[in-house]
Amino acid sequence: MRLRHIPGAAAAVCQNPLVLTEEEAVSHKGQWLRFSGGRPLHLEIGMGRGRFIFSAAQADAAGFFIALEVRPEMVLQALQRFAGEEDAGQPGNLRLLWCDAARLADIFAPGEVSTIYLNFPDPWPKNRHQKRRLTAPSFLSVYQHILQEQGQLCFKTDNLPLFEWSKENFLAGNWHIQHISNDLPLAESAIVTEYESRYRKRGQPIFYLAASPGEGG
Ligand SMILES: C[S@@+](CC[C@H](N)C(=O)[O-])C[C@H]1O[C@@H](n2cnc3c(N)ncnc32)[C@H](O)[C@@H]1O
Repeated sequence: MRLRHIPGAAAAVCQNPLVLTEEEAVSHKGQWLRFSGGRPLHLEIGMGRGRFIFSAAQADAAGFFIALEVRPEMVLQALQRFAGEEDAGQPGNLRLLWCDAARLADIFAPGEVSTIYLNFPDPWPKNRHQKRRLTAPSFLSVYQHILQEQGQLCFKTDNLPLFEWSKENFLAGNWHIQHISNDLPLAESAIVTEYESRYRKRGQPIFYLAASPGEGG
């Protein structure tokens, strides 16, 4: 996602009460259910401008939603988007977490998370960057660790090579694949993300996989 550097973005993000910094998030490890008031935790990794997570939090008051994003400029844009949704009101069950997905194991204890959403993660097409892909084996094994046994990971992408490569990683990691589609119908896409909307307008297929941690969890 192209976005220019915004001076002061990091400071503005840290001051916003909807945002958790990495240090704050680490302090909740093992205590997230207390923080969420007992509501199950749903986590989006790489939220971009936050369109998906805002709608998800509004649609499910019984859940607690956390959106992780590494770029402060994106977090700032998400906050601006939320502030603009005056009619809809601000969901009280949503927090944004400014941090890198590489820190997940320091933030969540085993089995603390109910759902992980990976919506259109950066494909990192070069082989030498494979480890950065959010569906690389090292990431999948952390997701297995922090997800509940009956939890679910939902992965959407427009990128077929990334999808095929990721599918192999899920299978090698003994994930239990519950749903797979090479052209997810719009009617089955509960909430359309910003990137998804762009690809659907161009008529591109959306690749989708939902899996539970299985034996590796
Ligand atoms: C292609 S965008 C997709 C945005 C959104 N999920 C959607 O579907 O519209 C990927 C986002 O993931 C973020 N991202 C990439 N690597 C990340 C990481 N290691 N940890 C957290 N966020 C990351 C990027 O900054 C970017 O905002």
